[in-house]
Amino acid sequence: MKSEWPSRIPTHIAFIMDGNGRWAKKRLMPRSYGHKVGVETMRRIALDVFDAGISYMSVYAFSTENKARPQEEVDGLFHLIRTRLEELMADIIARGARVVFMGDLQYFPQDIQEILQRVKEKSAAGRSGTLNIGLNYGARDEILRAAAQCVQAGDATPEAFAKRLYTADIPDPDLIVRTGGEKRLSNFMLYQAAYSELFFSDTLWPDFDTAELKALLTEYAKRNRRYGKV
Ligand code: IPE
Ligand code: IPE
Ligand code: MG
Repeated sequence: MKSEWPSRIPTHIAFIMDGNGRWAKKRLMPRSYGHKVGVETMRRIALDVFDAGISYMSVYAFSTENKARPQEEVDGLFHLIRTRLEELMADIIARGARVVFMGDLQYFPQDIQEILQRVKEKSAAGRSGTLNIGLNYGARDEILRAAAQCVQAGDATPEAFAKRLYTADIPDPDLIVRTGGEKRLSNFMLYQAAYSELFFSDTLWPDFDTAELKALLTEYAKRNRRYGKV
């Protein structure tokens, strides 16, 4: 059955998908199990988001700081990309959405870079939505790179700067949702978040579901966005 979604749907929703490790620990499972279930949640929620008519969904999947986690956990995340990403994205692509990645992808081993490139190319014709996945993404890194490029080009207008961010062709997020109970942005979309509505949920990411998404969108629809005006 097709779900009913609230009116005044945003254009762009972003998720800081936090709480995978704790979700697994609560079940006496290794943290990597939480990531495995977490990517399934990402697929489920992306399909809901596009079903709701939202055009852009960004997710924070792996931060520049997450690289410093124990090698075993980082390897587990690489393994997930190698074994699950293309299959997970097939559903999104079948839904008519395109998949793009933001972050410094050079960090990843060559075979992973090829997987990401394949997913991007396979989905490039998608017109019914954009899933933007942050991998080795950090907002400070993004901002400093854009600034350096602006200096090099001798053009530091706001437009020139925005064009050099990873989100060059993506509008700013209307709302940013962080699951997992922490109330911080942890280096996510710091430039783009200037006027984003913020939502913090105690739900651990693997448990995030359609009902909670709907509740958030209902609350979003009631918020008064003033952008500094009266
Ligand atoms: C978020 O979940 C996913 C990644 C950072 C890869 P965490 O792994 O941070 O899970 P918690 O916050 O430790 O529970
Ligand atoms: C933010 O979560 C990064 C992702 C969700 C990918 P973290 O778990 O890395 O953030 P902190 O350490 O709690 O700030
Ligand atoms: Mg965390």
